[in-house]
Amino acid sequence: MPRLPSSVYNPVSLVGAGIALVSFGTVVIFFAMDMLGYVQSPYLGIFTYMIIPAILVLGLLLIPIGMLLERRRKRRHAGEERRYMVLDLNDTRNRTAIMIFTVGTMLLIVISAAGTYQAYNYSESVEFCGEVCHEVMYPEYMAYQHSPHARVPCAECHIGEGADWFVKAKVSGAYQVYSVIFNKYHKPIATPIANLRPARETCEECHWPSKFSSDKKLEKVYFPIDTADVKPWKIVMDLKIGGGQSELGPTEGIHWHMNTANDVRYIATDEQRQEIPYIESTGLDGRTRIYRARDLDMDDKELQAFEMRKMDCIDCHNRPSHIYYPPFRTINDAMAVDRIAADLPNIRALATHALTFPYTSQEQGMQRIPKIIRDNYRTHAPELLQQRNADIERSIVEIQRIYERNFFPSMKVDWKQYPNNIGHMYDPGCFRCHDNQHVTDDGEVLSNDCNLCHTIITQGPQGQTVSDLAGLPFQHPADVDEAWRTVPCSDCHLGN
Ligand code: HEC
Ligand code: HEC
Ligand code: HEC
Ligand code: HEC
Ligand code: HEC
Ligand code: HEC
Repeated sequence: MPRLPSSVYNPVSLVGAGIALVSFGTVVIFFAMDMLGYVQSPYLGIFTYMIIPAILVLGLLLIPIGMLLERRRKRRHAGEERRYMVLDLNDTRNRTAIMIFTVGTMLLIVISAAGTYQAYNYSESVEFCGEVCHEVMYPEYMAYQHSPHARVPCAECHIGEGADWFVKAKVSGAYQVYSVIFNKYHKPIATPIANLRPARETCEECHWPSKFSSDKKLEKVYFPIDTADVKPWKIVMDLKIGGGQSELGPTEGIHWHMNTANDVRYIATDEQRQEIPYIESTGLDGRTRIYRARDLDMDDKELQAFEMRKMDCIDCHNRPSHIYYPPFRTINDAMAVDRIAADLPNIRALATHALTFPYTSQEQGMQRIPKIIRDNYRTHAPELLQQRNADIERSIVEIQRIYERNFFPSMKVDWKQYPNNIGHMYDPGCFRCHDNQHVTDDGEVLSNDCNLCHTIITQGPQGQTVSDLAGLPFQHPADVDEAWRTVPCSDCHLGN
């Protein structure tokens, strides 16, 4: 004797109940596995919190659908009139059905609440953002893990607090999933990200904008191309970061002028915001200065066709977490700490060549880098392959490590694709505006004075440096006449 309404006993509802039961059991097991940490796979989360719960709900929906279809079928066959169920609590079948329904619904509500919360957490996790669509996000994820923000979840910068951005993120996220599945995304992913959340609501949650940062010491040793007869060149500078609020102490330096007090707006004429012909700046005194590039060949009307952007953190810190370094810089820094043996003849040029060779995949690069370097020594200095074998091998390991973190052929990502706006050596950066070529109608210029943003306190060939705490005039390490004064550094220093 069935103890439930007879309309439950139809194939559709039974299949639905079966699906629901099996998927419920699976979720419980997967959930336990996730909690106990038995399995460390990003896909476990997708199944536990997204795919299987969706199947569970589908199964549950099939039960009432099956019941409706069943009742309609019965009515048609028996020619019955439409009758609603009479709830007779004296009937054990009705009591059981109501019990199952009430307890089941309550359980489901509690479980769905917990499940939705888990799904929400999961969809915001680094694991989900960085690992699930492995190929697409791999460059960002890799660079992120070795950045100052390696412990800051992706969502803190890309989504932030609040329901409105959460919804926006899920909508664009759904589109991203679609574009990944149907291979419709751009390689490399285009920046600037069109609707990145304003820095005010992300970065500033952790970095209080008016907090004062003291000077930062920047110390660099540069190894020339031919290491044999030229000494490495050393430079030490105080970077005047500054910032702060006038009530709390000193206010000066890079941050103060740019953010707390000044309001800077600009127009860029290219996608990546590298060409800036027009700048407006309103200072504490309330006066607005308008700087135009000397070679500007557009009138104000033509300029209005472009977007005017208010400067914020991202206009300088556009690579806080996904930093793809130029090969010269990483090789040089590795030589400075002796991870690449600096006294190996020709190693700088050779390492650059090995890193920038157009490999088709990262695996291929990792395999061929050792061969390129060994073969080169075999041809040009076979005796070194014996005498300096240990140094050559440890340098190769370091070059591979640099390669793995900064070059991603499958997504066409390297330093050239993503200019870094901090500094001015390999990309225009600060010199997009501070180039001595932006003037007001009154003749004020945005200066590129070498001691404006940093004070050079020590420079010279290693062992023969000169120091002056008040600041030294810059001396260019190689003889290029006066070109460094007039030509942007990044025109010659391409990073390779
Ligand atoms: C400290 C803040 C921060 C964190 C943490 C962060 N990002 Fe980003 N991300 C940015 C900024 C800023 C940009 C560049 C915006 C621009 O240029 O428009 C960016 C750009 C990107 C881009 C565009 C391509 C590129 O390389 O610029 C992708 C994709 C991306 N992030 C994914 C991730 C993923 C995945 C994680 C976590 C593993 C993550 N981000 C963590 C701030 C962050
Ligand atoms: C969830 C908090 C959080 C958010 C959001 C965040 N940061 Fe950070 N940031 C940190 C922490 C933690 C450090 C490391 C501090 C340290 O090493 O002393 C850091 C370090 C930095 C540094 C110093 C890097 C260095 O080389 O030492 C910069 C610059 C920076 N953040 C900029 C940004 C920018 C720009 C954004 C927005 C895109 C941002 N941060 C968003 C927490 C955050
Ligand atoms: C005019 C460009 C510019 C703007 C705009 C800017 N910064 Fe910076 N910031 C710098 C430079 C340059 C440095 C020092 C270079 C470095 O650390 O690589 C720096 C350093 C920092 C540091 C590290 C400080 C330390 O003591 O090491 C943090 C944190 C930071 N900025 C956060 C922010 C935040 C948050 C904003 C937005 C409110 C912002 N910056 C806006 C140029 C800028
Ligand atoms: C979009 C254009 C633009 C960019 C990019 C830019 N700045 Fe500026 N900067 C300005 C303007 C405008 C002023 C204010 C000049 C004025 O009106 O007095 C300024 C002022 C400054 C000052 C104060 C100068 C003074 O008179 O004391 C410093 C320091 C500074 N910027 C550093 C930087 C650094 C470092 C970078 C790169 C990380 C940078 N700026 C990038 C436009 C820019
Ligand atoms: C508008 C501000 C500004 C001006 C003007 C400026 N610099 Fe810089 N410079 C920076 C910043 C910011 C960095 C630090 C970048 C970083 O943190 O990697 C830097 C870094 C450097 C470095 C180290 C580069 C590296 O990555 O190895 C050198 C060398 C240098 N500057 C020389 C100069 C010279 C020479 C001039 C004058 C022609 C000059 N700077 C003018 C802001 C400025
Ligand atoms: C006309 C081209 C040119 C310009 C412009 C230029 N440089 Fe150089 N720079 C060179 C050459 C060539 C070398 C020597 C390369 C070598 O021996 O590796 C060099 C070497 C250097 C080095 C030693 C490290 C290295 O790469 O070997 C530093 C630091 C440097 N330049 C800084 C700057 C800065 C800062 C600026 C902008 C203010 C600048 N340069 C502008 C051509 C230029």
